[in-house]
Amino acid sequence: MLSSESEPQIKALVVCLGNICRSPMGEAVLKDIATKRGVQVHVDSCGTAGYHVGEEPDERYNNVSIDSLARQISTSDFVRFTHILAADENNLRHLESMKPHNATAEVRLWGSYHDNKAIPDPYYGGMNGFEKVFQQCIRLSHAFLDEVVGKAEAKEV
Ligand code: 4NP
Repeated sequence: MLSSESEPQIKALVVCLGNICRSPMGEAVLKDIATKRGVQVHVDSCGTAGYHVGEEPDERYNNVSIDSLARQISTSDFVRFTHILAADENNLRHLESMKPHNATAEVRLWGSYHDNKAIPDPYYGGMNGFEKVFQQCIRLSHAFLDEVVGKAEAKEV
């Protein structure tokens, strides 16, 4: 079956624990950078845990507007997305343990596209942790797009 031309080839899901701190920021930053680079990417985020389902992003992100309500990962995400980007190793282990047999998404630590570092959880810390998450998401978004956009273009040739 031919896919619609308007459907992005790259569909990325950013995953943390609660989907209120790291992954909504990752979603917002990756969307913004993809738009600025002129790359069509579908981006969403979710949490491995369900503690905060339905909640808005943490209010300590007081200088950025993020359009996201927390949701928990589901097994269908492993076929709906092409790339699942885990914020840290615990999230990655959780994702690997629930990955269904028919999974088509590539599941990786987001940092594996750059420096192999996790995104530290800012929830129990101060404001500077949130600023660091923002800066790290910028670097990781560029690194992710550098790798996957090149590959997607090579497949088209
Ligand atoms: P996130 O941060 O995984 O980046 O959304 C957290 C949010 C909530 C909790 C832990 C981390 N919590 O323990 O409720």
